[in-house]
Amino acid sequence: MSERTLVLVKPDGVKRGLVGEVISRIERKGLTLAALELRTVERSVAEEHYAEHKEKPFFGELLEFITSGPVVAIAVEGPRAITAFRQLAGGTDPVEKATPGTLRGDFALETQFNLVHGSDSPESAERELKLWFPDL
Ligand code: CMP
Repeated sequence: MSERTLVLVKPDGVKRGLVGEVISRIERKGLTLAALELRTVERSVAEEHYAEHKEKPFFGELLEFITSGPVVAIAVEGPRAITAFRQLAGGTDPVEKATPGTLRGDFALETQFNLVHGSDSPESAERELKLWFPDL
């Protein structure tokens, strides 16, 4: 069964010219792009996107970072797309959790600057896709 997930190439990935690398790995896996947009995130959208992290000590930094420059938002589609992309991304901590061969394992060093975001469950995917691509 096909499903959709929200992928963000975060400001660090866009600044470092890694958008093509991320898209290439998504496509090589066999997933497809249902929508794609380069966009600077408004603070209100960032707050809603990361609502579940509101109480975390890093929430302020997270908002600063995600609004610090353009991101590429992608609606990614395919069988088990949510889990498939999370495997491509690797664990949240790019050194301790992400293994080489994953996007974060290959291209990131710090948890805050971990290159990409991917929805972590069907509920998150639905909520995030509505927020980022309301017309999809
Ligand atoms: P993401 O998958 O976008 O979801 C929440 C984000 O919070 C996560 O990736 C990281 O970028 C960020 N994050 C998680 N833990 C920390 C931390 N300890 N310090 C800074 N940022 C964090």
